[in-house]
Amino acid sequence: RGTMRIGPEGHLWIGGCDTVELARRFGTPLFVYDETLIRDRIRAFHQAFRETGLTYEIAYAAKAFCTLAMCELAAEEGLAVDAVSGGELLTALRAGVERQRIHLHGNNKTQAELELAVRSGIGYIIVDNFVELEMLDAVAAAAGATVDVLLRVAPGIEAHTHEYISTGQQDSKFGFDWENGQAREAVRRVAACRHLRCIGLHSHIGSQIFDAGGFVKAIERVTELYAEGVALGLPLRVLNVGGGFGIRYTAEDDPEPIRRQIHTIVDAVRSAFAVHRLPLPEVAVEPGRSIVGEAGTTLYTVGTHKLIPGVRNYVSVDGGMTDNPRLALYGAKYEALLANRAVDAPTGVWAVAGKCCESGDMLIWEAPLPDPRPGDILAVFCTGAYNYSMASHYNRNPIPAVVFVRDGEATVVVERETWEDLLRQDRPLRRG
Ligand code: LLP
Repeated sequence: RGTMRIGPEGHLWIGGCDTVELARRFGTPLFVYDETLIRDRIRAFHQAFRETGLTYEIAYAAKAFCTLAMCELAAEEGLAVDAVSGGELLTALRAGVERQRIHLHGNNKTQAELELAVRSGIGYIIVDNFVELEMLDAVAAAAGATVDVLLRVAPGIEAHTHEYISTGQQDSKFGFDWENGQAREAVRRVAACRHLRCIGLHSHIGSQIFDAGGFVKAIERVTELYAEGVALGLPLRVLNVGGGFGIRYTAEDDPEPIRRQIHTIVDAVRSAFAVHRLPLPEVAVEPGRSIVGEAGTTLYTVGTHKLIPGVRNYVSVDGGMTDNPRLALYGAKYEALLANRAVDAPTGVWAVAGKCCESGDMLIWEAPLPDPRPGDILAVFCTGAYNYSMASHYNRNPIPAVVFVRDGEATVVVERETWEDLLRQDRPLRRG
């Protein structure tokens, strides 16, 4: 994948850097990002859209992996940034992302988050529900501003993916329900909000989607609503179909190429808009995982092992669910190899465990590996999305460092936390 290769000494190299050397220099666990691969993935999205000739915007879904450096890179590559919290919004602003090119999402944005968004003059806010509609209208009024918004529609589409990451179905906490007419009602109500300008509609059907069929159905439904909005005089011009483009975690995964999915989406928009005789909108997408997922590799140091004859062989590493909770949460599958012995043939199947105090703290249940020895460096692939961003302090483990590698150069973009950092916000029981 990307710039990965095996060096002459049998080590795994990424971005022209020896990962064993990276582990020694920066410690483990370590998130390593192949910067070239991220840029390539972004350029593939641009290229696919350019081929369609339609006006488009690609907003990087920062929830997948949000740091200053990543937001800078996204902006450099011509992406907008989709933020879902005050923290992500501030990160994008500090990274120098153009204000107009930041969007804010969320099913329960706080007053403070809405105020920050309005004060900062971001491009648009995606309104999720009726409570927010009123709240935002009031925030905008108080700031003397007119705020551009999209309405998020739950189009009632089942994306065939894990239920926790499927969001377009009717039974979802996100968006205005299409099936029972709430979305239609929202279109009417936003027209009456004096401080909001509704410039588009949004839907997002789920994540880790392998083919664009679900998008097509969602586009048909949302376009009906779009036509109604136009008839009501709303200045609609954006159709945002969300993110969710799947990646290849293991050989079992077989997502359609991005290019084909984008073409399917744009074709669906063209035909739906033709049916309703509407001028073509700007099409927006919000990919997260497909931009950064495959570019990330986590390096761990192998520690203890436990052999249970006839049952299972466990090998433990110095991270786990605190840097990658995805197996625990979704039963996600990963592939791995020993970075310092990348050419050694597997001799057995190992269960790769983390160091946290619970049995569900596993990274891989069945990894074919050469017999791992303490001190080996284990590389787990495809950890670029929803790993660092979902990291936790469980068991008071510090959050690992993040490095970007490119052309033989490694840049630390997030420093490793220390035990001292973990105590920074703590205060003693009695002050005296
Ligand atoms: N836009 C919206 C409105 C979303 O809710 C999401 C993801 C995205 C865009 C980006 O989706 P992506 O292109 O990354 O699939 N933690 C889970 C994934 C949760 C996704 C939530 N929303 C995981 O680790 O699989």
